[in-house]
Amino acid sequence: MTTRINPSILAADFANFERELGRIATADLVHVDIMDNHFVPNLTFGLPMVERLQQVSPIPLDVHLMIDDPDRWAPGYAEAGAASVTFHAEAVADPVGLARRLREIGARAGIALKPGTAAEAYLELLPEFDQVLVMTVEPGFGGQSFMPETMPKLRLVADAVRAAGLDVWLQVDGGVTVDTIGIAAEAGADTFVAGSAVFRGVPEEQIAALRAAASSH
Ligand code: DX5
Ligand code: ZN
Repeated sequence: MTTRINPSILAADFANFERELGRIATADLVHVDIMDNHFVPNLTFGLPMVERLQQVSPIPLDVHLMIDDPDRWAPGYAEAGAASVTFHAEAVADPVGLARRLREIGARAGIALKPGTAAEAYLELLPEFDQVLVMTVEPGFGGQSFMPETMPKLRLVADAVRAAGLDVWLQVDGGVTVDTIGIAAEAGADTFVAGSAVFRGVPEEQIAALRAAASSH
């Protein structure tokens, strides 16, 4: 099975993103957390930053929009060249319309579910998406603890993807470490976001350790 490790630059040095990208050359994608201080109680950066990152990053960008009104803002990130753009189910007005727009522009379309959001209503929409992000912490901050209680939901989505024969990546985000990644892999995740676990140590060593822990579950 393919294992993707997407380091989150939320845990990187904000004054040196270009240099930080050089330390994660073995990553599959770079996870970019956009927070607007409305959908989540924290603020990071927005479109101009992503446009510039896209120019300097040798690694494709995996944009996670923790913002209100993604219907209005998400297409801009796809136009900037992000490989994937994931918006929150709790914030979007027209998930299918927005996913189609993102795909038309050329990005992979992702939908994210907060820990308390049930997946059932979205299962029939799976063919419209390239990625489902099951949040394993409450979105807003790095460095929180993995919530194993989200695993039945991940398993449900994984089963639905498999049953329908779809190529939808299953992503987990929040508290992913060498100790928790196996739990998520076992439940069906194939794409793992890790912020503090990667940037806390030597990033390329951490990425290798996460990759090994995910595949040996
Ligand atoms: C949390 C963000 C995550 C965050 C993960 O709201 O969506 O991407 O960077 O950080 P860690 O890996 O430290 O939990
Ligand atoms: Zn994220």
